[in-house]
Amino acid sequence: MATTDMERPGGGGFGTRSWRALTAVPRSWNRFWRRVALYMPKRLYARSLLIVITPMILLQSVVAFVFMERHWQTVTVRLSQAVTRDIAGIIDLLDTFPQPDSYAQIIRIAQERMSLKIDLLPAEPLPPPGPKPFFSILDQALSSEIRKQINKPFWLDTVGNSNIVEVRVQLDDKVLRVFVRRSQAYASNTHIFLLWMVGTSLVLLTIAIPFLRNQIRPILQLTEAAESFGKGRPMPPNFRPRGAEEVRRAGFAFIQMRERIERQIDQRTAMLTGVSHDLRTILTRFKLQLALSGSKVDTEALSQDVDDMQSMLEAYLAFARGEATEDPGRFDLTSYLDKIGEEARLRKRKLKVTLVGEPEVHVRPNAFARLLQNVVGNAFRYAKEVEVKAVHDRGMLVVMVDDNGPGIPEEKREEVFKPFFRLDEARNLDSTGTGLGLAVARDIARSHGGDIKLSDSPLGGLRAMIRVPA
Ligand SMILES: Nc1ncnc2c1ncn2[C@@H]1O[C@H](COP(=O)(O)OP(=O)(O)OP(=O)(O)O)[C@@H](O)[C@H]1O
Ligand SMILES: [Mg+2]
Repeated sequence: MATTDMERPGGGGFGTRSWRALTAVPRSWNRFWRRVALYMPKRLYARSLLIVITPMILLQSVVAFVFMERHWQTVTVRLSQAVTRDIAGIIDLLDTFPQPDSYAQIIRIAQERMSLKIDLLPAEPLPPPGPKPFFSILDQALSSEIRKQINKPFWLDTVGNSNIVEVRVQLDDKVLRVFVRRSQAYASNTHIFLLWMVGTSLVLLTIAIPFLRNQIRPILQLTEAAESFGKGRPMPPNFRPRGAEEVRRAGFAFIQMRERIERQIDQRTAMLTGVSHDLRTILTRFKLQLALSGSKVDTEALSQDVDDMQSMLEAYLAFARGEATEDPGRFDLTSYLDKIGEEARLRKRKLKVTLVGEPEVHVRPNAFARLLQNVVGNAFRYAKEVEVKAVHDRGMLVVMVDDNGPGIPEEKREEVFKPFFRLDEARNLDSTGTGLGLAVARDIARSHGGDIKLSDSPLGGLRAMIRVPA
């Protein structure tokens, strides 16, 4: 059935072809737009300017073109026609009244009635044709009209004196020289129209640009606020929803969302603290009762469990406390790397550190130190050889921690991030671990707007990659 084939791109026969025909146009259209988008400016401000300016220029170009083509040309041709008609009339008069004393009358009539200043030169060859102006419809219109209406050798100077056009026509025994005002033969105020057009659009633009900027600023501020919240930094102090209604609504929605999230974090922290605290009290009582019960043989395993539980609770409490809003500040990678160098020496581990880029990063210092400590501490705990490489570039910090330990099988790499999850006990010779380290580390990385990824290391063990905007 054709319809089902069309719905299914893989279908055979007629259906496939019609499917292709149907999708071909949108697909090439999409490709076209993707290419256009590639060359488009990326920022909102530049794009909005483009949206305002492009139609304006397009409209003006079309109007200017049509105007030049139709109006300007037509008017100039008409005016040239009229002037040429006057000149032709004068020539006719000269032919009809060839007596030299009537010339003065003709010259007077031409001056008074036609605003043409004429004089008669003795018969001598016309000057060689002057250089043609590059862009002159006047020259073309006048030439073609003289050729049409008078049909005698003529010489034309539309370039020379800017306000006056000079025409010379070779008559039988003399040369007629006519000075015409340029405005008489030419739609000369056209450029004023263009000037008005360009001028008003410039004025419009100078008004529109600040308005546009004002409309866009609230969007940029909202972006900034959302970004810094995502990175766990405090909101810019001057942030308050402004601008067009939709933008303001988005701003208020963002503030509400932020408050909700903060409330949730607070609740979680409070609950964790409460539970841990209550349990700790009970555990202390447990320990006390165990100690008081006397018979050591039976209770040894039990009190070990109680100790474990207590250390877990301590870890949780520390975590919950640490989560409570710490202000962002400066963190010096160099001194931190020195510190782990010291730790490696004490624990007799082979350590190689590399730092590329600015050593100072902008994070929540204590939380961030805990994040690094948990990951590097794991490497020290589970391996003999460790490599730490930090790259700080364009607002992004990437810390890669490689080790040559047993690594973590791929299918377990998500699970180890769960609280209290530890891999097989055999490898955990050091029994003090609670299995919270990576959970806390990921939490901190994410609250900074980053994350941790685990993979295979070239050293043979685990590679932990921490990426945090800093
Ligand atoms: N570099 C590593 N190499 C091999 N296994 C690792 C490595 N890092 C973590 N693991 C495994 O992942 C588990 C979870 O690690 P996590 O740091 O969360 O807990 P932990 O180190 O056992 O305890 P702690 O809460 O003291 O950090 C560990 O028990 C260990 O089995
Ligand atoms: Mg750990």
